Amino acid sequence: MSKGIFVTGTGTDVGKTFVTALITRKLWKHGLNAGYYKPVLSGAQRKNGKLIPGDADYVCKISGLEKDPNSLVSYIYETAVSPHLASKIEQKPIEMQKIISDFEKIKEGFDYITVEGSGGIVCPLRIDDQTIMLSDVIKALSLDVILVAPAALGTINSTVLTVEYAKQNEISIKGIIFNCYERDNFLHKDNKRQIAYITGIPIIACVDSNANDMEIDAEILEKLYREI
Ligand SMILES: Nc1ncnc2c1ncn2[C@@H]1O[C@H](COP(=O)(O)OP(=O)(O)O)[C@@H](O)[C@H]1O
Ligand SMILES: [Mg+2]
Repeated sequence: MSKGIFVTGTGTDVGKTFVTALITRKLWKHGLNAGYYKPVLSGAQRKNGKLIPGDADYVCKISGLEKDPNSLVSYIYETAVSPHLASKIEQKPIEMQKIISDFEKIKEGFDYITVEGSGGIVCPLRIDDQTIMLSDVIKALSLDVILVAPAALGTINSTVLTVEYAKQNEISIKGIIFNCYERDNFLHKDNKRQIAYITGIPIIACVDSNANDMEIDAEILEKLYREI
């Protein structure tokens, strides 16, 4: 039986991939068979005619995961826009059933799977004759969530809104990871305190800029994953 968790962020470019790579590496170093999966990636670079899923590629490189990055992503789009629009432009609609069956295959290969979302928690994957939101995928894969949030100004608003949206959608956030945290910065320290107070969700780790490790025990991290 595999275990999994879903990594979302307060928005795009907040460090979901950066943090996921550190998490995956930590679990590997702890001797666990840790893997990665990303349902949908847009804005992929093309190299020698082939689309490279940058996020999966980065996680593999940092964590030491020896897999073809393309095998860890279900839908890869070149257009750097929201998945619902990229899939429409590239005429490759997203099917929930493919995500579910690809995830089943991924589960066969790993014991601990960290699933990275696209954008923030409100992310449409498809809006045409049917609507698929990222939150539908989180629920369909039965995953709880880790939320990556920047430590800087503005994070109280975006983090609390993300937590409220998750609650509304009956998605459980197990912990928040603060990214680009400056330990001596009074604003960052206060953001951490106030977010924990307002949301009631623990800040489980603070990641420094250019960090190559996270200050959290692998045992604690491991316990956040739930059987799927
Ligand atoms: N703690 C960090 N230190 C240095 N660079 C970071 C850190 N977190 C994120 N970045 C950089 O910021 C950019 C966006 O991060 P990324 O993890 O790709 O965001 P997301 O996956 O949320 O879109 C990348 O270039 C990444 O290397
Ligand atoms: Mg990413």
